[in-house]
Amino acid sequence: MTDKTGILLLSHGSRLDDGEEVIKAYKEMYAEEFPDMPVEYGFMEIRKPGIPETIKKLTEENDLEKIIVVPVFVAHGLHTKRDIPGLLGIESDYEGDDHGHHHHHHDHDDHDHHHGHHHHHHHDHDDEPVEFDGEIVLTDPLGIDRRMYEIIKDRVSEHL
Ligand code: NI
Repeated sequence: MTDKTGILLLSHGSRLDDGEEVIKAYKEMYAEEFPDMPVEYGFMEIRKPGIPETIKKLTEENDLEKIIVVPVFVAHGLHTKRDIPGLLGIESDYEGDDHGHHHHHHDHDDHDHHHGHHHHHHHDHDDEPVEFDGEIVLTDPLGIDRRMYEIIKDRVSEHL
């Protein structure tokens, strides 16, 4: 039985469509290579589907014991260390600056998107909690990898 584990590819979320095109394409690539593996994509904020509704969809359509959540982000930041674990309702090893350190603007340090008005760092579209009594695993982001470096080189080469 391969349908005991589901996969959620998680993107940040944007009002523009570009990010959804990318995460949707990766989801479709994965589904094509592993047709027996339930996989969905979702967004941590700003855009639907959000985390709770994506997990609901996965669990309604499949009998899951485990969900592997892959944050399709380049690096760890406060979203991956603190916000996403919070939204998933899982343990976080984030030991933040709630203890008097000098990081008063931490909410904005880890990304440079500005939405033109107050950035709701809490999930501004999913007030429902995640409902899943199985295991949720949050993986590392993409990180440092030669395959990513090759893409960086390509992007430069295209303009040389
Ligand atoms: Ni954000």
